Amino acid sequence: MGAVNLWIAYRIRFFVDLLDSGSVLHLNFMPNIIVTGGAGFIGSNFVRHWLKQSQDGVISVDKGTYAAAYDPEETVEGERYRPVAGDMSDRALIRQLLHQHRPTSVVNFAAETHVDRSILFPEEFVQANVVGTFNLLDEVRRYWEDLPGPEKDLFQFLQISTDEVYGSLLPDESPSDETKAAAPNSPYAASKAAADQLVRAYYRTYGLPTTISRCSNNYGPYQHPEKLIPLMIHRALREEALPIYGDGMQVRDWLYVDDHCSALHTVIKLGRPGEVYNISARAERTNLEVVLAICALLDREFPRRRGCYADLVEHVADRPGHDRRYALDSSKVGELGWHAKESFESGLQKTVRWYVTNLERVNAVANGGAYRTWSKVNYGQRR
Ligand code: NAD
Ligand code: TYD
Repeated sequence: MGAVNLWIAYRIRFFVDLLDSGSVLHLNFMPNIIVTGGAGFIGSNFVRHWLKQSQDGVISVDKGTYAAAYDPEETVEGERYRPVAGDMSDRALIRQLLHQHRPTSVVNFAAETHVDRSILFPEEFVQANVVGTFNLLDEVRRYWEDLPGPEKDLFQFLQISTDEVYGSLLPDESPSDETKAAAPNSPYAASKAAADQLVRAYYRTYGLPTTISRCSNNYGPYQHPEKLIPLMIHRALREEALPIYGDGMQVRDWLYVDDHCSALHTVIKLGRPGEVYNISARAERTNLEVVLAICALLDREFPRRRGCYADLVEHVADRPGHDRRYALDSSKVGELGWHAKESFESGLQKTVRWYVTNLERVNAVANGGAYRTWSKVNYGQRR
């Protein structure tokens, strides 16, 4: 049976069960989904994607750290979206939202996410990513245990994880699949791996229907300009040096954020509880290749007065413990019918155009005190 038919059959069975049990009375007629970290890069893209692809209500719980850089309320419309300012560690808040909105799914995007920051401030990563996920997971478990049958059967918790938990690959090694053991190398990756282990344990011990997705490096609109691709576009347009860590031959496997969101949609609809799903578009590039591709796009579309953008490239001191290569085998999510739509070239072109069109918004983030302080701390030590 095709993936779509399977989903329709699953949905029909759920509603028949629901009517049989009479527990439809307990549900809001509009199904809801709760996301944490919905004001961040991937979370906000996912909220927009989900509102477009479904009729569900979306409740976003976001603490509003420096990373919630662009206000999603500017671009997310409609009564079906409800942003809540709050910490996923605030158990009373999470409990209240679960009981009030009775979501069919909880998707956990919330995290501290920048590897360089995790090297300088590891404790914040343990607090947000490990303790935060634990608090959220445990409240969700308590809520789920008391649900009536059909609601309990449909419910799921999706943990958004990362390829970084698998650690670094050698140049000729096969891409990591879901059976590979965790071998994280940065405090960020270790905190995400620890969260994954908790999620796994809650499935095995309590039967909480959890899935874990592990994606490769995302890029696209609304990413914070501290991350490689927006940083390079933004700095190039300001005629600033383009800082490449070390030799720039580290390999990342790039995934356009919309493709990631559609893969998450597939996992939420068709993923099996207890399973892990890797998500990748199989687009491995060295950092130097990525930066030169950005420079070439800018040369074509927004040429400099003199010289080309690649002249701005500057090699700076490397990141400690810098992983050499990430690559993911995502054939398992492919079996559910998902495939990426964007090639790296088409996704990068869309991305460059978005940052150029939205330069004022990106400048507003980059001109903020928090970002300027961070740039001084991070890049000051590399020169
Ligand atoms: P981001 O840094 O852009 O956004 C994170 C969001 O989480 C922010 O809005 C922040 O305010 C919020 N947040 C942080 N701590 C919170 C807390 N305790 N309670 C509530 N909200 C909190 O991150 P992103 O790039 O959108 O990443 C989202 C998820 O995807 C993360 O879990 C990350 O580990 C994972 N991931 C990201 C990438 C990538 O390339 N960006 C790759 C693999 C995995
Ligand atoms: P980043 O966007 O921080 O993602 P991650 O570390 O999670 O993969 O960095 C992507 C790659 O780019 C990584 O190998 C580090 C490198 N990099 C630079 O070379 N220069 C920079 O200024 C930044 C931010 C990253």
